Amino acid sequence: MNAIVAVSEDFGIGREGGLLFPLREDMRYFRRRTLGKTLIIGRKTLDSFPGGRPLPNRRHIVFTRDPAFEREGVTVVHDLAELAEAVRDIPEEELFVAGGGQIYRLLLPYCRTLYVTRVKAQAEAEVFFPDLREDPSFRLMKRSAPLCENGIRYYFCVYERTDTPALL
Ligand SMILES: NC(=O)c1ccc[n+]([C@@H]2O[C@H](COP(=O)([O-])OP(=O)(O)OC[C@H]3O[C@@H](n4cnc5c(N)ncnc54)[C@H](OP(=O)(O)O)[C@@H]3O)[C@@H](O)[C@H]2O)c1
Repeated sequence: MNAIVAVSEDFGIGREGGLLFPLREDMRYFRRRTLGKTLIIGRKTLDSFPGGRPLPNRRHIVFTRDPAFEREGVTVVHDLAELAEAVRDIPEEELFVAGGGQIYRLLLPYCRTLYVTRVKAQAEAEVFFPDLREDPSFRLMKRSAPLCENGIRYYFCVYERTDTPALL
């Protein structure tokens, strides 16, 4: 499966239940990549969406430990076994892990491709993505030309899992 995320220079992703950077073009990129696909998210990320509702034209699978949790338009799962059952008939390349920190950490071992918007700015974050600079199992394969919005520079990057560990 894939993951999609926007990170600051030190891999921060969120603060006070929201995103760190309002980047319009990055939002469009997220939309383009995920339209018609399946998002796998944590309950807190669902709560961070407008009105706490799923995004249009995407299937949502939401992790919670609350056995009573329900929300219109989403599939609820409580553990990896339930996730496996929920995605059984969906091609792997149509699955996008889309946050937040807890769910990225839980599912990164199962991800093959990571769509990472790398923002060249620091921000006070409370929630982080695993630092890919310290993870030899992913390799940067593509980086877009720089984009700039409100003085903030960023790149769309694609990382792929590699079975070949780096020597150094
Ligand atoms: N920069 C980005 O690209 C990006 C993307 C997405 C989100 N974010 C940000 O990330 C932040 C939210 O991340 P977060 O780490 O606080 O929360 P999260 O991962 O969105 O959701 C955490 C919740 O998921 C459920 N959960 C976690 N692990 C579980 C497990 N093993 N089994 C079953 N359920 C599990 C629990 O729900 P219950 O409490 O209901 O049990 C937990 O409270 C927000 O600031 C959001 O804006 C950033």
